[in-house]
Amino acid sequence: MAAFQELEKTKVAIVGLGTVGTGVARLLLDFGDRTARHAGRTLWLEKVVVRNLDKPRGVRLPPGVLTNNLEEVTQNPEIKAVAQLIGGLEPARSIMLQLLESGKDVITANKALLAEHGAELFDRARELGRTIAFEASVAGGIPIITNISQCLSANQILSIHAILNGTSNYILTRMEEDGCAFADAVAEAQRQGYAEADPTMDVDGTDAAQKLAILAHLAFGARINWREIPRQGIQSVDAADLRYARQLGYRIKLLAVAELVDSQLQLYVSPTLVKIGTPLAEVRGAYNAVSVVGDAVGRVFFHGLGAGQMPTASAVVADMIDVVVGRAPITFRTLELWSKRYERLSPPPPEKRPGKFYLRFQVEDRPGVMAELTGVLGQHQISIASVIQQEPASPENNTVPLVIMTHQTTEGAVLSALEKIRHLSCVQGGYVMMRVRP
Ligand code: NAP
Ligand code: HSE
Repeated sequence: MAAFQELEKTKVAIVGLGTVGTGVARLLLDFGDRTARHAGRTLWLEKVVVRNLDKPRGVRLPPGVLTNNLEEVTQNPEIKAVAQLIGGLEPARSIMLQLLESGKDVITANKALLAEHGAELFDRARELGRTIAFEASVAGGIPIITNISQCLSANQILSIHAILNGTSNYILTRMEEDGCAFADAVAEAQRQGYAEADPTMDVDGTDAAQKLAILAHLAFGARINWREIPRQGIQSVDAADLRYARQLGYRIKLLAVAELVDSQLQLYVSPTLVKIGTPLAEVRGAYNAVSVVGDAVGRVFFHGLGAGQMPTASAVVADMIDVVVGRAPITFRTLELWSKRYERLSPPPPEKRPGKFYLRFQVEDRPGVMAELTGVLGQHQISIASVIQQEPASPENNTVPLVIMTHQTTEGAVLSALEKIRHLSCVQGGYVMMRVRP
């Protein structure tokens, strides 16, 4: 082995020492020989910027490294690359701009920031001749950004079907396998460091939609406003739905999909019934998976931890190495991401969004109810693939759950039918609607 102590040093810094920042500090401090072997130089952790100097930290830093003064980074010309690992939009955006303007290349895991301000930040970085690297922003430890933007670049990507939110997948797995209550599973995901500072972003599909907008930009060359991606989270998924899905031969997963259908880019995030035994259905816990189809390569499947300290830190440090050796700057300049070179694109309206759907209603237990409901579906040309109706839970109970799985139709047709069904006197309360992966 080479004597890494003798190698040239490149000074780096971290801003934000939470879950991910702590993992990055550990990798840089405890495994310096490993990073040096790949970078051909030592990545020397010069400064770590935090808000609160007194907070206990999960890593022991050498004296003088911890500071609450960002200027100790921006004013130090010897620091070349900075892992900016604070979440949310502000002050993350302003700090990112300050770092770029002071001549630093920046590595980030903040997908919310890129999905919201990617165009501004990437333009500014290009003007300044700097680089932003963001492998950790999508699917944690899975190197999906590099794979889509570099390794699969000979392909027209045809589809991406992905589990991109580790927290949601963890919650669904705990609910399904251990009968854990939704709120308890959320709390456990927070304890494990998987969830966003506000876990609503995880469970309402926002985080997955932001990641999908980034992947779709790389894969399809379209600039997509993540807010326009139709999205539904897992809050409405009930233990009963997990049971009915299983009875039908499926598991429920929060899928993020970008797919060319008749030359139109379909995009959505939705809890989706996925056939048991297929690779996406078997993704458990905080794991993520991305199934990509390219016209030359065929299907490739990526699977790995999508959230958590060390998997995410793995992606950040790999980016840091790519930045300091000069690989990331070449890719960054070549791709011109979020630039005017890429067209803006909006997902098609519901009537142009094909799919199969799972519907659950609570209906009166009397003759003619099934005919009423299926009549409305029929009026909207929606054909039924399966039905589950069970006996009332007790003789006093005069309503029963009714589960219907449709054949291929459009989301628009289902939504119009549901608008009518909702007003039928035999239907109590609302309904549950999810997609089914064909
Ligand atoms: P976190 O645990 O909440 O840590 C955030 C850190 O940012 C905290 O240490 C906080 O400092 C620091 N901070 C906030 N404002 C600051 C400021 N003005 N100056 C300096 N430091 C500041 O968050 P995280 O889970 O590590 O996530 C960081 C980013 O990575 C987020 O964008 C998240 O979406 C993304 N990400 C997270 C994961 C994951 O599994 N956790 C995976 C992939 C991507 P104090 O400690 O002093 O309060
Ligand atoms: N909160 C995110 C998740 C972290 O659970 O997937 C990884 O981006």
